[in-house]
Amino acid sequence: MELISIAIDGPAAAGKSTVAKQIAKKLGIIYVDTGAMYRALTYQTLQENIDLEDEKAVMEILNKIDIRLAQDKEGQRVFINEKDVTEAVRYPDVTASVSVIAKHPLVRKKMVAAQQELAQDNSVVMDGRDIGSHVLPDADVKIFLIASVTERAKRRFEENRQKGIPADLHTLEKEIEKRDELDSTREASPLVKAEDAVELDTTSLSIDDVTNKILEICQPFIEKL
Ligand code: DC
Repeated sequence: MELISIAIDGPAAAGKSTVAKQIAKKLGIIYVDTGAMYRALTYQTLQENIDLEDEKAVMEILNKIDIRLAQDKEGQRVFINEKDVTEAVRYPDVTASVSVIAKHPLVRKKMVAAQQELAQDNSVVMDGRDIGSHVLPDADVKIFLIASVTERAKRRFEENRQKGIPADLHTLEKEIEKRDELDSTREASPLVKAEDAVELDTTSLSIDDVTNKILEICQPFIEKL
């Protein structure tokens, strides 16, 4: 049995996590939501009232906490030390601040090392912004998901509604545009499509369509599992 790695990148709310979760479940391999790691650090930084722009202070927090992703039947839970922050890291204050935390090079270096370690010991579906381009440059399959801003805002609105998180469609659209801009223009591993990634526009596709398309692309590697 060999290990396989599937990298799924793309902008905010393009459907990465839902699709990645489904694929991981189908293949019986681990799902790694790298955004949740940056979100967990953002949550803790906000909790401690630390200036998000102060990379040194943010690193002090990162060095003293343990961010852990645990698999359960619903997908993945996020822990800071032993505290379950799965829901808390999705709240709007974290979402609005996470791009600031994710732009710090030292933060990225440490997060990327942890992500690479996970893929060294396990078959993974990893979603993020820089997985195919930077974290797992030798991934077996690289997918880059895109969708229109309007469609992404609608999806995030629906997701928030189901979780009981207050949201407004227009505000979500503005936030997504801002996050795209920050994630794509930062200096340290910005959001870019890896040269060898397959781009899929999910605007008018259902989740199942996208999952099935990706599974088709993965087929030659699935046989190795
Ligand atoms: O996928 P998400 O919305 O949970 O990601 C949260 C933020 O983390 C997003 O604004 C960009 C950042 N991120 C990143 O810079 N690199 C990753 N590999 C994953 C997420």
